[in-house]
Amino acid sequence: MIFEVLTIFPGMFSSPLSESLLKKALDKGILEIRIRNLRDYTEDKHRMTDDYPYGGGAGMVMKPEPVIRAVEEIKGRHPEARSILLTPQGEPFHQKVAREMSAHPHWILICGRYEGLDERVRLTAVDREISIGDYVLTGGEIPALVLIDAVSRYIPGVLGCAGSVEEESFVQGLLEYPQYTRPPVFREMAVPEILLSGNHAQIERWRQRESLRRTLARRPDLLDRAPLSEEDQAFLEELKGQEK
Ligand code: ADE
Repeated sequence: MIFEVLTIFPGMFSSPLSESLLKKALDKGILEIRIRNLRDYTEDKHRMTDDYPYGGGAGMVMKPEPVIRAVEEIKGRHPEARSILLTPQGEPFHQKVAREMSAHPHWILICGRYEGLDERVRLTAVDREISIGDYVLTGGEIPALVLIDAVSRYIPGVLGCAGSVEEESFVQGLLEYPQYTRPPVFREMAVPEILLSGNHAQIERWRQRESLRRTLARRPDLLDRAPLSEEDQAFLEELKGQEK
């Protein structure tokens, strides 16, 4: 999987990509991330990537030429590459989007900056616009890292344990159940007995119920979309009854 990142702040990517699982994936060659400095795609003496907005107003706007030149150059060499603009105006990023993206081998991530980006970039060089949430960040660099991280987890060999990508929160449409490790008692808080029982069927059932309990308490909106068995539904009804 290849990510080409277009940014005016290439330094923002160094430390997140030099630690942990992403670093290992890069070292193994199963993930490739090419950080491209948009200043390298300018043609003026001062290597300007922004300019004043037509019509006036506060702040600067990213110029169209460097971004469009970069996207066209990459697509010229790799016609299969698809471009994404990170923007609060984009479609919401969800686990499902991450999974879908992992099926495509080559992405160009455009990190917007300043107060905006010339509209003509959207019209000519952007295949898709994605937002990582309803808040405004200083630019698209951190959102690009969020996408890279979430999508890379689906590349075979990135996670140590192959099962974990499908088990965690959101994949089943529910929040994750509580996890424990040693010691069995910490500050008088004991690990739930069932987890020490060795009875895997019972443990599975307990975990599913804790997932349901947590999702109902914290993110009831997720329950509308989660695939629920009859037993799950009965348990939720029981929980709701207890609330009253
Ligand atoms: N750029 C600034 N804020 C953003 C957000 N929430 N998502 C994606 N890109 C952004």
